[in-house]
Amino acid sequence: MNVSGSIYISKTLATRIGLQDQDEIRVRVGGRITRSKLVIQNLKGRSYMLSPGLAHELLVKKHRRLKLRYDQQTNMIHLGPTIGVLSSSLPNREGFDPTSVQAELIYLSNIGKKLPGQVYIFTPSSINWSNNTVRGYVYRQLSIERGMWVSQIYPLPDVVYDRIPSRSSEAQTNIRNTKQRLCKMPYLKYFNPSFLNKWKVYQLLITDSRLYPYIPETQHLTEVSLEAMLKKHDTLYLKPADGSLGKGIIKVRRDEKGILHLVAHRKGRHRSQAQNASDLWKKTKVFRGDRSYIVQQGIKLATFHGSPFDIRIIFQKNSKGEWQVGKKFVRVAAKGSSVANLSSGGRVETTKRVFRILYKNPATIEEKNTHIKELCKNIANTLEHSSQSNYGELGIDIGMDQNGFPWLIEVNSKPRKTTESEHSQVIARNTLKRPLEYAAYLAGF
Ligand SMILES: Nc1ncnc2c1ncn2[C@@H]1O[C@H](COP(=O)(O)OP(=O)(O)O)[C@@H](O)[C@H]1O
Ligand SMILES: [Mg+2]
Repeated sequence: MNVSGSIYISKTLATRIGLQDQDEIRVRVGGRITRSKLVIQNLKGRSYMLSPGLAHELLVKKHRRLKLRYDQQTNMIHLGPTIGVLSSSLPNREGFDPTSVQAELIYLSNIGKKLPGQVYIFTPSSINWSNNTVRGYVYRQLSIERGMWVSQIYPLPDVVYDRIPSRSSEAQTNIRNTKQRLCKMPYLKYFNPSFLNKWKVYQLLITDSRLYPYIPETQHLTEVSLEAMLKKHDTLYLKPADGSLGKGIIKVRRDEKGILHLVAHRKGRHRSQAQNASDLWKKTKVFRGDRSYIVQQGIKLATFHGSPFDIRIIFQKNSKGEWQVGKKFVRVAAKGSSVANLSSGGRVETTKRVFRILYKNPATIEEKNTHIKELCKNIANTLEHSSQSNYGELGIDIGMDQNGFPWLIEVNSKPRKTTESEHSQVIARNTLKRPLEYAAYLAGF
C-alpha cells in the first residue's frame, strides 16, 4: 500500500481516542483505504486535517463534514459515515409527486445533507469495482418545484440502505449480482436486503414460541392444505406469497349450509361460490395463476364505522440501533371490503381516534399500545435473528380482533413512507431520517 499525504490530528483528539504516536497509519473512508503519514500536533481549534494528497486519494470533498473514529484493534482511522442509498434508477420526472419513489429519494438526499458524513444515492451501474468507487448522486434543489441530480465520485459506502423499489427490479440479474457483491465487501454493512415472502416470514417467525398466539394459522396453499384449513376455520385468506397492496387476495367464508363464498381482489372485487375444497381450488385457479400462495386463518377484525381495519406500524431502528415505533396509523377497509390496503380503497385514520372510540378507557388504550409495541419488538428481533439479515425498518400490519387482541397480519421489509396521508410533517420527516441515523450507527459513528 502506497503512502498518500498526511493526516494531522490534534493532541486533544489523539488522547481522547487513545491514538498512539506513530509515523504512519491506515486511513479509511468507506471502501477506500490508504496509508498516510500521521502527525499529532496542536491544530489551533481544529480536531483533524487532511493534506490535499490524502483528501484526493480518499475522494473526500469537505472533510469537516466527516466524523473521525479510531479502531484500536486494526489500528485504523475511519472517517465517515459514508452512506449509500441503493436504488434501481434515478427518476427525475417533471411535476413533483410527493408520494413517488423519486420524492423519497429526493427527501433522503436533502435530509442527508444536514447529517454528519456523506449520503448519496447510487445504482448498480454507477459502481466502479476496480477502485472501490461509485458515482453517487445528490439532489440539488433549484426551486421548490425543480431540481436535478448532481453526481460525484465517492468511495463505496460504509453502509448500504437498500431502497430497490420493486420485486421485479430486485429480480433483475444485474441488481442481484450487485447486491451479492456488495454484501461480500469487507467493511461494508447492508440493511433491508430484500422483499419478504409471506410463507418464508411465517416459517421464520414461528420458530419463536412467544409469537405463537399472535400469528394466524398459515400453510403453503395446496389442494390438500386448503381442505384441511377449511375444516378448521370458517374464514380463510388466500394470499400470493410475493404479493402486496392487497392484490390477488382471495377471502373465503363458509356459511351455515357449508357453501363457500369467495371474494377475489384483482382490479376490483370478484364474487363467486364453491361447494367444496376441490371446487374452490378449481374456481380460484384463474386468480392464482401459477403463483405461490399461502392459506391463512381469517381473523375477525374489529371494525370502525362498520369496516374492518388494521394498524400499519413503521417500526424502525434509531441512531442507537434500538427498535422504536416511527409511525403508526390505522387503515380502514373500504365499505364492503375485507382488505384494508390503501391501494385497495382503504383510508387512513389516526390510532388515537380509533382506539378512543373503541376502547374508551385511557388505561386500556395505553395497555393496547404497549402490547402492540412489545409484539413488534419480538417480531422484528425474531425475523432478524432467524433470517440472519439486518433490517433498519419494517412495515408491520397488526389486526385487532373483536376481543381487542392483536394479531400479526403481515411484515413488509420495504414499507413506502411517502404514500400515506400525513398527520404530522415532523413525524414524516423523522421517519425518513431515522434509517440514515441507523446507518450512521451501523458504520460505527
Ligand atoms: N388473516 C387475515 N384475517 C383478516 N384480515 C386479513 C387477513 N390477512 C389479510 N387480511 C386483510 O387483507 C389486507 C392485506 O393483507 P396482507 O397480508 O397485508 O397482504 P398485502 O401484502 O397484499 O398487503 C390486510 O391489511 C387485512 O386488511
Ligand atoms: Mg399488507
